[in-house]
Amino acid sequence: MGIIALSYLGVNSNKIEDWSTYATKKLGMQKVDSTGKSLFFRMDDQKQRFCITGDEGDCLSYLGWEVEKKDDLKYFADKLDKANIKVFVGNKSLSDKRYAEEIIYFFDLSDNRIELLFNPFKDDKPFIPGRPISGFKTGACGLGHAVLHTEKISDLVPFYRDLLEFNVSDYSFDPIKLYFFHVNERHHSFALIETGRKGFHHFMVEYNSLDDVGQGYDLIQFEENAVAYTLGRHTNDYMTSFYSITPSGFFIENGWGGRIINPKTWKPSEMTEGPSFWGHERLHMPKDQRLKFRKKRLEVAASGKQSPAFIDCPWLYSNMKK
Ligand SMILES: [Fe+2]
Repeated sequence: MGIIALSYLGVNSNKIEDWSTYATKKLGMQKVDSTGKSLFFRMDDQKQRFCITGDEGDCLSYLGWEVEKKDDLKYFADKLDKANIKVFVGNKSLSDKRYAEEIIYFFDLSDNRIELLFNPFKDDKPFIPGRPISGFKTGACGLGHAVLHTEKISDLVPFYRDLLEFNVSDYSFDPIKLYFFHVNERHHSFALIETGRKGFHHFMVEYNSLDDVGQGYDLIQFEENAVAYTLGRHTNDYMTSFYSITPSGFFIENGWGGRIINPKTWKPSEMTEGPSFWGHERLHMPKDQRLKFRKKRLEVAASGKQSPAFIDCPWLYSNMKK
């Protein structure tokens, strides 16, 4: 029981034209509905994965987390209530809008709107990507992952770990404070980063093929101010990815080859090798900050640390055996 996947997310933005092109032609999502004011997108057989609300702000509007059983909604509502977090029960209009059977929602300590939902609806029509990609890796592991800025990471960790029962994957203190959480076999579906501010840092979509990522990189890498992090590979989830700058200013990680873990045997630990084995040059950062990450990567490379052979990834291995 409990929270089992990142199901959907919404962004407040009124840059409708820019987002429509970006989500379909750059990311490869399918635009399914447009009210003129809002945009809705599919990434797979789920009716809705991503929404641009049409409201001003260029910020996160909501994160939707799927629970395993309908009773889980009551369980979390009671638990949050005891912790003095006000919980709202979504009405039919909200669940119709999100294509889910039942929803509750509340706000974390930084005012991020969190929705818990039971039974997201599927579409019987096939997913048609907005550009020719092999598809998104979603399924039981959910949409991907979402990462929030924090002013002070220690203020928010207990909310997600103790109240929402997210499981800690790992954490680091240098060159930046990070906390990663899993709710299924994806190494992390959620993370917090201490940057001294609030809001949405990025979300990650994972593709079925490395070529989907490479071709997406070519579509944006020659545009000005379009790449936040260059192509690189993360040390904890082994994701090969680049980060693009969205029309709203936050980032989207375009990734492939993420690590699948066994949540039953996983033990959280401190990461000391920094976030990337190679690449991920942070083009959006001032030079002095960028150099700290580069120094760390060069130390990792000099030590010979690399991701294990792909046969150690159960997901790829199980697909290989088919
Ligand atoms: Fe990420």
